[in-house]
Amino acid sequence: MQILSVTSGKGGVGKTSLTCNIAARFAQLGRRVLLIDADLGLANVDILMGLSPRATLEQFFRGERTLREVLVPARDHVTVLPGASGVKELVDLRDDQILLLMGALDELDLEFDVLLVDTAAGIGPNVMHFNAAAQDVIVVVTPEPTSMTDAYALMKVMARDHAVKRFHLLVNRAPTPKDARNVYRRLTQVADQFKLDIAMEYLGHVLHDEAATQAIIERSLFVERFPESVAAAGVRDVVDRLLLGSEERAPTGNMQFFWKRLLQPGV
Ligand SMILES: Nc1ncnc2c1ncn2[C@@H]1O[C@H](COP(=O)(O)OP(=O)(O)OP(=O)(O)O)[C@@H](O)[C@H]1O
Ligand SMILES: [Mg+2]
Repeated sequence: MQILSVTSGKGGVGKTSLTCNIAARFAQLGRRVLLIDADLGLANVDILMGLSPRATLEQFFRGERTLREVLVPARDHVTVLPGASGVKELVDLRDDQILLLMGALDELDLEFDVLLVDTAAGIGPNVMHFNAAAQDVIVVVTPEPTSMTDAYALMKVMARDHAVKRFHLLVNRAPTPKDARNVYRRLTQVADQFKLDIAMEYLGHVLHDEAATQAIIERSLFVERFPESVAAAGVRDVVDRLLLGSEERAPTGNMQFFWKRLLQPGV
């Protein structure tokens, strides 16, 4: 199973929208996806996917439901693990809660090809844990200067405190492909200038597109509802690149890797 986290420094840059569309695209290509809403205090994957979950991770952590009971079939090949909204206890999970969740996810290893994690924004402990556990960290950034500085800060903290040094940059909402490339170039320049020991790879871009906004209003996904849109084309390119990456890399083994790394940060 390929484990990908989708994260950002600044909030509201399009993580949830992109993650849901990436999940749907993987599914269109026949991959079985488990999408985790790890924005645990302010979850909204269920809203974007048009779901009405019966239970959430809150019940799982209270011991009232098994993880399997919380899973929601969202599409052919897409299963969602819904977070919970307005639940303060989930905002900062304790280490034992994280391990409980990772252990339960471990058991689902063979049932999915891709595990996609939609994190909260920022550098809080949950975000750090989920990113540290993923094989590939996708950093979503927009051309806004604040989004870029916050993305840089996130990568710096991940590298310094969690030994995560490789990032895939996904530029969202740029007006043109050239603008998107410039965002990448500027970030790599700053990293070089400050001698930050990280590798940033350009994963692709999803241009600013009204189809993205319209899809959210309709609680649909633009790759499905507006397949001809430029945003949908961007997501298809991104998923192609992710699939290529997963083939090039040697398999890292099973899910255990995901949470065992958490016990030994820096491994
Ligand atoms: N490519 C795009 N073109 C136009 N609008 C977009 C695009 N991507 C996202 N948006 C808009 O950005 C808004 C925020 O998106 P989303 O909720 O996915 O961000 P987020 O990063 O998950 O936010 P949060 O940090 O609060 O979780 C959406 O309402 C959507 O309208
Ligand atoms: Mg979100």
